[in-house]
Amino acid sequence: MEFSTKALDLSKAGQNGFLASRTDCLVVGMFEGQSLSGVAKALDTATRGLVTRLVKLGDFEGKRGSHLLLHEVAGIGATRVLLVGLGKEAEFGDKAFAEAARTALRALNGTRAANVIWCLAQSMPQLPQVPAQGAAHDVQWRVITTIALIREAGYRLLERHPELRRNGAKAADKPFGLRKVVLTVDAAEAKVAAQAVVRGMAIANGVELTKDLGNLPSNICTPTYLADTARGIARRFKLKVEVLGRKQIEALKMGAFLAVTKGAAEPPQFIVLRYDGAGVRQAPVVLVGKGITFDTGGISLKPGEGMDEMKYDMCGAASVLGTIQAVAEMGLKLNVVAIIPTCENMPSGTATKPGDVVTSMSGQTIEILNTDAEGRLILCDALTYAERFKPAAVVDVATLTGACIIALGHHNTGLYARSDALADQLLQAGRKSLDTAWRMPLDDEYQEQLKSNFADMANIGGRPAGSVTAACFLARFTDKYDWAHLDIAGTAWKSGAAKGATGRPVPMLTQFLMDRAG
Ligand code: BES
Ligand code: MN
Ligand code: ZN
Repeated sequence: MEFSTKALDLSKAGQNGFLASRTDCLVVGMFEGQSLSGVAKALDTATRGLVTRLVKLGDFEGKRGSHLLLHEVAGIGATRVLLVGLGKEAEFGDKAFAEAARTALRALNGTRAANVIWCLAQSMPQLPQVPAQGAAHDVQWRVITTIALIREAGYRLLERHPELRRNGAKAADKPFGLRKVVLTVDAAEAKVAAQAVVRGMAIANGVELTKDLGNLPSNICTPTYLADTARGIARRFKLKVEVLGRKQIEALKMGAFLAVTKGAAEPPQFIVLRYDGAGVRQAPVVLVGKGITFDTGGISLKPGEGMDEMKYDMCGAASVLGTIQAVAEMGLKLNVVAIIPTCENMPSGTATKPGDVVTSMSGQTIEILNTDAEGRLILCDALTYAERFKPAAVVDVATLTGACIIALGHHNTGLYARSDALADQLLQAGRKSLDTAWRMPLDDEYQEQLKSNFADMANIGGRPAGSVTAACFLARFTDKYDWAHLDIAGTAWKSGAAKGATGRPVPMLTQFLMDRAG
């Protein structure tokens, strides 16, 4: 899919202006219950009052979620016009903006339109601005958000992996029809908008990489496959990559990570990807992603029902790869390191057993009371390894606990951080990218639940506050730097009929890094 921007000066728009351009469809927004404004008004003038007459007829009032598709409209160059209801101007915000785009995409899906002129990203003074952070919904936001929504609609499950497609007679999904999208913007915004297209594409590519990796079955997406993916990103975008195998992991004394991989035949990998976008002296942001390519629970075996979904237990790793690729593709002036401990969690004659005690890379000992609490075990050694980068901040991302889904459901990622500043940056980035998180507590009181009679700590804290105690476990390995933890168990994939990876939290993380790059 191709995206471009076109400066549109509404004061000059008319029959000889952009409305005369040939296109399969002109997509125009209209507010409810007020006189026409913006592009809708220009369209009305060019069509000798057609829009006004439609409103009078009562067939289209601009209600939120509504649309009207028109054909063969005289006086303009477009084959079709899609009017999209924006709802009441006073109630128009980022959610309504996204809903309008989704409504338009659903309507376009029923047509054969391939090339469209999209006027819904045109400047919208109605969108809330956040003065403290600068204009939150500036042209960059409108363009990036629009591209994200269009690419989301265009995503087809594992399109790049035809070997996995169903062999049935009919194709699994109707192919996405849009090929070329021209986003109109104000003339004064044109330059920023063009850069925003590059960024929007980079983010969408990162999100799609993350979705594809998540959706791949575990017999294909192995730790070795993740390592090869990292090498591929490094080659394409000129990053440094290092992959450590079992021998090197042993040499580093990552006893917690090794305890998890012990039962698996599939070799573990420890992936380090470096993007140096700023000077060598700038401390990097380190992203750590949980890469359990399949979580059976180990000897503390999970129940069989729905266990297939544990192929998604590497979505933290996938999102870290998607984010660093996006950052590299957009050429952000920032240093970022991605660290991915990856292995399978399997039961076998060589697997770790409940009650086993291991020594982590940090020297702290852990009593493994439940082998299904394996994410924190591979992450704690990766968090210790992260110290060597003298990071400005470390953010780990993990499908860590079922308890996080109980606490927050599928809308918000669980966010943990000691420092308010780092927490606020991530929360703000989440709100801006419509990929939200909710802050959870990290109080010392919870640490008591991790007490062990046989080691420095147990790897589980009992049923109460399961997501919190998992974060508290990780906190014990992060005292050398500013740290945040994202529990994405509820947000990384969808179950049921729409089963599939969501690509979250790539939008939040990329926004966070864009904000830090300034
Ligand atoms: N990968 C799971 C967490 C998970 C469960 C994510 C369901 C998404 C859906 C993790 O490794 C796990 O098994 N956690 C246990 C921890 C418990 C044993 C303390 C859990 O949440 O049940
Ligand atoms: Mn588990
Ligand atoms: Zn797991």
